[in-house]
Amino acid sequence: MKKILVTGGCGFIGSNTSLALLEKGYELLIVDSLVNSYQIVIDKIKSLCFEKNPENTNSIKLINCDLKDRNALEKIFKESNTDGNKISAVLHFAGLKAVSDSLLDPLSYWSSNVLGTINLLNVMDKFECKTLVFSSSATIYGINNSKENLKESHYKKPLNPYGMTKETIEKILINLNSVEKNDWRIAILRYFNPIGAHTSGELGESPKNTPNNIMPIINSVASGEREYLNIFGNDWNTLDGTPIRDYIHVMDLADGHLKAMEHLFKSSESNLVTVNLGTGIGKSVLQLIHVFEEVNNISIPYRFSSRRAGDIEYSVADNQKAKELLNWKPNKDIKDMCKDSWNWVSKNPNGYSDK
Ligand SMILES: NC(=O)c1ccc[n+]([C@@H]2O[C@H](COP(=O)([O-])OP(=O)(O)OC[C@H]3O[C@@H](n4cnc5c(N)ncnc54)[C@H](O)[C@@H]3O)[C@@H](O)[C@H]2O)c1
Repeated sequence: MKKILVTGGCGFIGSNTSLALLEKGYELLIVDSLVNSYQIVIDKIKSLCFEKNPENTNSIKLINCDLKDRNALEKIFKESNTDGNKISAVLHFAGLKAVSDSLLDPLSYWSSNVLGTINLLNVMDKFECKTLVFSSSATIYGINNSKENLKESHYKKPLNPYGMTKETIEKILINLNSVEKNDWRIAILRYFNPIGAHTSGELGESPKNTPNNIMPIINSVASGEREYLNIFGNDWNTLDGTPIRDYIHVMDLADGHLKAMEHLFKSSESNLVTVNLGTGIGKSVLQLIHVFEEVNNISIPYRFSSRRAGDIEYSVADNQKAKELLNWKPNKDIKDMCKDSWNWVSKNPNGYSDK
């Protein structure tokens, strides 16, 4: 079976995707610096895979490597080529992702995300592995005043260094694909708001850094670690005054990666596709909280504070392209997302950190 290199495969989305790939029989090389994740994730993936496909369980290997270290990356590709089964594709999740940190420490973001990706692309080019699925983000889109769902062609204007690094990487990938007679096959996947966890409650979001995104914060209120959730702004022009987002279950995202990669494998010539991965259904922050309260029977106290600079009112995917091109559709709804998120946290109150 094909060998796939997964950068950032110990992280939230990478680990769920790695499990889906392993279950399908792919051989995996995970490259992760563990800057925001834990090695134990590999054992979790193995034991979950064992339940469905025991024979695939050992086809996963972790290499602790930072993408900023180009020599180490070269070594990985070189060694992988000598064992007779070349790397067929790279799923590239590794990167720093906290918007507020990126405002405080932009250099780390440019180094990890952009320099790390340039290293990876150079090494892929050198070893003639030119199939790549890249984790981009809806944060690269400019403000949407219309309340229409965002198409991939919507104009781009990221408002923070994190989003700017993602937009820059997209531009590099477009440049690569514009070279005459190139043989790159690239899928740029723009995620909306990934939440949820694996339904087993064994794989979920366990950041080492202070989380910025809403679900880990709701979970910490639910567990009593925080007193209340701070909602930034209740004066937006929406049904209840709070911003609208497109939350997507991490297992649906994982499936999107599998479909995108297999789509690229079928391309007979160079190819670059850019696809939104979202449900196409918007929920306000208050709606999300109320669903969480209802399905988990826990109250989530909240308070309103003023809007944050750079926040936007409405960010929902037009996911038609993903449906048509990749034959992908989300299968899980907001109730599943809230239930699975809390199931993960209640089973693992400290995430992976005490394992
Ligand atoms: N979670 C979201 O809300 C979201 C939304 C849109 C896009 N994305 C993107 O998806 C990708 C995965 O996100 P996630 O939520 O799983 O994040 P995560 O932090 O859980 O996972 C990222 C993984 O990459 C590793 N990593 C970071 N920098 C590295 C480096 N220089 N070298 C090697 N490994 C490195 C981390 O240790 C971690 O395991 C990221 O690129 C992120 O920007 C995430």
